[in-house]
Amino acid sequence: MRHLLNPLDFTVEEIDELLAVADDIEKDPSRYAHVCDGKKLATCFYEPSTRTRLSFESAMLNLGGSVLGFSSADSSSAAKGESIADTIRVISCYADICAMRHPKEGSALVASLHSGIPVINAGDGGHQHPTQTLTDLLTIHSLKGRLDHLTVGLCGDLKFGRTVHSLINALVRYPDVKFVLISPPELRVPEYIREDVLRANHIEFKELGNLDEALPELDILYMTRVQRERFFNEEDYIRLKDCYILTPKKMKLAREDMFVLHPLPRVNEISVEVDKDPRAAYFKQAQYGVYVRMALIMKLLEVKQPC
Ligand code: CP
Repeated sequence: MRHLLNPLDFTVEEIDELLAVADDIEKDPSRYAHVCDGKKLATCFYEPSTRTRLSFESAMLNLGGSVLGFSSADSSSAAKGESIADTIRVISCYADICAMRHPKEGSALVASLHSGIPVINAGDGGHQHPTQTLTDLLTIHSLKGRLDHLTVGLCGDLKFGRTVHSLINALVRYPDVKFVLISPPELRVPEYIREDVLRANHIEFKELGNLDEALPELDILYMTRVQRERFFNEEDYIRLKDCYILTPKKMKLAREDMFVLHPLPRVNEISVEVDKDPRAAYFKQAQYGVYVRMALIMKLLEVKQPC
C-alpha cells in the first residue's frame, strides 16, 4: 500500500507517468467516468480549505466513486480529544482512501502509520503540500512544455509556505532548474530547505528582497499569500502582509512567456487587474488540480487506465 506524504514519495518517472495520465484525463474526462465505481474517498480536513478538499471530492466523483468526510476539526470527534491514530483506524473501515489536512506538521505521517488505506497529505501545517505540488508541476508542464531548464521565482511567505517547500523539493530533481527566492528577511525559506535541499543538491539559487529586480529573468513567478494563521504575532503579520503586490505595471517588467502561478487563496498579493493578463495562470492551475488528483487517486488505488 502506498501513501503520498511528501512529493519525494514518488520517483521522477512516477511523477512523469502521473502527469501523463492527468494530461490524458484533461483531453477526454468521460473515458474515466467509471474507473472508481464503488470506491470511497474520505476527506478529513482539520483546517479550512476550498480548492484541495473540493477538488479531491470533484476528482473522486468524476471517477465514479463516492465521498464522505468532515471539513473542520470541530465537526469531528477530534473536538472530543480523539487521536489521529484512532481516527484513521476508524476511517479505514469506512473508506478506500483518505485525503487529510491538519495544522500540525507530521500529522499525515502519523495517520499513515496507523492506516489500513492509502493516506494523502493534503497539507500538514507549514511543512508539505504534495498534491498542490503535483498540480503546480502539471500546470508548469502544460504551459512551458517542460519541467527542466527553468528559472522559477518564488515570492512572498517562503518561511511558512508549505506549497513552496514542496515545489522546491520536487523541482530540484529536474536538470538546470534555478530558483530566485523573493521574500522579506523574516519570511526567508527555512534553513533546511536552503541547506539540505538546495545547497546539498548544488542547485543555483539567489535570495532577493526586491520583486522588480527578479521579474525580467523568470520563466515562472510563483506568488504566495502571507499566511495570517501561521503568525504568532498580529503586529508582524500586519507589517508584512502587503510586502509584495503584483500589478499590471510590474508585469511589464516580466517576459512575454513568463507565467504567474499562485496556489490560492489570494488576498492582496496579486491585484485583480492582473487576472486579465494572458500570463496569469492561477485559475487554470486550480482546474489542473482536479485532473492530477484524479490521476493520483487512480494510482494509489491501483486502478488501471481505461483502454
Ligand atoms: N491551494 C490550496 O491549498 O487551497 P485551499 O487552502 O483552498 O485548499
